[in-house]
Amino acid sequence: MWLAMAVRVPVLVAVAWPYASGSRHLGHLAGAYLPADIYARYQRLAGNDVLMVSGSDVHGTPITVRADAEGVTPAEIVDRYHAEFCRQWESLGISWDLYTTTGTPNHAAVTQDMFLVQLRNGFIDKRVSEQFYDPVGERFLPDRYIEGECPHCGFDGARGDQCEHCGTTLDATDLIEPRSKISGAVPELRSTEHFYFRYSDFTERVGAWLKTRKGWRPHVLNSATGWTNEGLQDRAITRDLDWGVELPVDDLGEGKRIYVWYDAVIGYLSASVEWAARNGDAEAWKRWWHNDDARHVYFVGKDNIPFHSLLWPAQLMGYGGLHLPDDVPANQYVTFSGAKMAAGRGVGLTIGEGLRLFEPDALRYALGAALPEHADTEVSVEEIARRVNDELVATWGNLVHRVFSMVHSKLGGTVPETGERQAEDVALLAAVDGALAEGADCIERVELRAGLRSAMEAAARVNAYLNSTEPWRLASAEPERAAAVLVTALEAVAGVRTGLAPYLPFSTAALDGVFGPVQRWERPAVPAGTAVPKPSPLFTKVDLDALDLAGQGGESR
Ligand code: MF3
Ligand code: ZN
Repeated sequence: MWLAMAVRVPVLVAVAWPYASGSRHLGHLAGAYLPADIYARYQRLAGNDVLMVSGSDVHGTPITVRADAEGVTPAEIVDRYHAEFCRQWESLGISWDLYTTTGTPNHAAVTQDMFLVQLRNGFIDKRVSEQFYDPVGERFLPDRYIEGECPHCGFDGARGDQCEHCGTTLDATDLIEPRSKISGAVPELRSTEHFYFRYSDFTERVGAWLKTRKGWRPHVLNSATGWTNEGLQDRAITRDLDWGVELPVDDLGEGKRIYVWYDAVIGYLSASVEWAARNGDAEAWKRWWHNDDARHVYFVGKDNIPFHSLLWPAQLMGYGGLHLPDDVPANQYVTFSGAKMAAGRGVGLTIGEGLRLFEPDALRYALGAALPEHADTEVSVEEIARRVNDELVATWGNLVHRVFSMVHSKLGGTVPETGERQAEDVALLAAVDGALAEGADCIERVELRAGLRSAMEAAARVNAYLNSTEPWRLASAEPERAAAVLVTALEAVAGVRTGLAPYLPFSTAALDGVFGPVQRWERPAVPAGTAVPKPSPLFTKVDLDALDLAGQGGESR
């Protein structure tokens, strides 16, 4: 059996850690979680060993700024949104091997170990620097407590950690005309001592490593190479905050924690370690991390590109011995529009609102067909509804319904022994097999939109086959031919279902009763004797006018 001999590749599906500081939007879903899940589901069917990990990013000023604004503790904010995310992953069928948080003792221990090793290796040092201090609020102002003008693109409203407009990572002191978000005061500079990671030591190595990356999206590689050409900058990896991973050394005294961006990316490793421990084989994570043959793919939005293509690789190099990213198929942004959107919102629906309006597979389909893989992509409620009705329901839902109904009514609901195949039957099944091969190729290259398109084209091909063979007309005059056509169509449907399985887990599972679960990336046999019950619709058509669009709201920071 070739399958038994095929090499199982350990694939790490590493997914951006959402800040537990507010509801996430459909843009986040399309930017990271959905593509990661599609990729992971495909890789499992392809026979590889997938470890798909992420968790809630519970540290940093996104959390504390929100807590301050609500007058509650950071822990309250984190618990609220972590619970919300976990419910939503469940509803959406995001197939984590582990979804944890950066608030665990394990994560702190792994982070502290990395810190100590890099310190020993000479890549971390201590420096006194001038940081912004709010004279009214009487505290230092790290990261998102400061806003000002971006020195690179001039965007006014850049935050002290990153400019959202051009994506450049910043230090608060880079900002032009900074202002405190706590009091609005003009901050003043005061000395404070912090640990720095010597990212500049890695400019050459990261640059050389980037040159060896194959098949990366041009926009990702171009941004990463551009930043490396400017040279990586040393950055403080501690902050004047009392919320975050504690330092493993007491050199700086009270009130200092590890910087969220230094610790969050370590989550990929710490979650792998946690997963292994929970599964009773504490060393199992090494198959992914101490293994040149593993494949690590990072699913992130475009604002996360510098952290995953430069800074995390540099941190890994500074530790040594751990697998570096193989691909960072970062997505561009989803923008929301449409007459039915509440005016002036711009950010679009939260995941919760999306799930209130649409079935999970409908949402997965519409976003999967519009993933912002190469350019910003516009999405609206109307567009989601159109795709669901005109594509998902019209092409796939109706095909399944049509074939099952005919097998039920014309063949008594049981698959007969197949008679002779004609050329058109063989051609149809070959087309479905071809679509599966093409889909595999697309998904391997993380061209997930194209992978979905090839499966949907195969579905359309089965519809065309039915329209030309007209089994409903053959049934009385040529019952054997009608049976052969319907069995062929059923086999084709089983193959298309495999191609759609990574995208549409719920409607795929709804057909388990007939075809069994999808276990491999193949068109399965549909043996004689298979029972095909009277079908109920796989999807519900969306009635745009009946959608309750009130109550849209929420914000993400
Ligand atoms: N919390 C960060 C964000 O939402 C993403 C972190 S990805 C990680 O932008 F790898 F750093 F965790
Ligand atoms: Zn900018």
